[in-house]
Amino acid sequence: MFSLFNLGLVCHITGIAMMVGGVLANFVAMAQLWKFLPAEKSKAQVIAKAIARFPIVQGLGGFLIISGGIMMMIFFHGLPMHQAWFKVKLILLLLLILNAIVTAWPANVLLKQLLNGENNIPNEQSKVIKVKQRITLYHVLQLMFFVLIFIVSVTRFD
Ligand code: HEM
Repeated sequence: MFSLFNLGLVCHITGIAMMVGGVLANFVAMAQLWKFLPAEKSKAQVIAKAIARFPIVQGLGGFLIISGGIMMMIFFHGLPMHQAWFKVKLILLLLLILNAIVTAWPANVLLKQLLNGENNIPNEQSKVIKVKQRITLYHVLQLMFFVLIFIVSVTRFD
C-alpha cells in the first residue's frame, strides 16, 4: 500500500536529489567560470547564463523537501518534533538557509557586477579572487550541512 509516509518520502528524496544536484552542478560549472575571469568576460557570461536556471530547479527541490517532510510529519502525528535528531536537523536546515543569505547572496551581487562591468574595474583581479573564495566557501558549507542532515536523519538518535 502506498501510504502518506511513502508519498512524503518519495517527494523528500526527489527534492533532496534536486537540491544537492543543483549545488554540485553549480560547483562544477563555477570551476570553469573562474578560468575566464577577469580576462575573457564574454566566455564567463555564457557559463553564467547557462547556470542561471539552476536556482529554479533548487527552489522546486526545496519545495518538495518541505512538502514531503510535512506529509511524513502528518503521518507520524508530529512525533519527530519532540525528538532530539529532528531539532538538530532543523538547526542544520536553518544554517543551510543562513549560508545562502549571508555567504552566497553578497558574493553573487559582486559576481554580477564583475560580469556585467566594463573592463576597467579597479582591483578587478583581487575582487574576482574574493568572490571565488566566498562562493567556494558557500558550496563547501552547503555540502557539509547536507551530509550532516543525512547522518542525523538516518541515525535518528534521541
Ligand atoms: C535540506 C533539508 C532536508 C534533508 C536533506 C532531509 C533529509 C532526510 C533524510 C535523508 C531522511 C531519511 C530518509 C529515510 O530514512 O529513508 C529524512 C527523513 C525525514 N525527514 Fe527530512 N530532510 C530535510 C528536511 C526536512 C524537513 C524540513 C522536515 C519537516 C518538515 C523533514 C522531515 C522528515 C521526516 C518526518 C522524516 C522521516 C523520519 C522517520 O522515518 O522516522 N525533513 N530526511
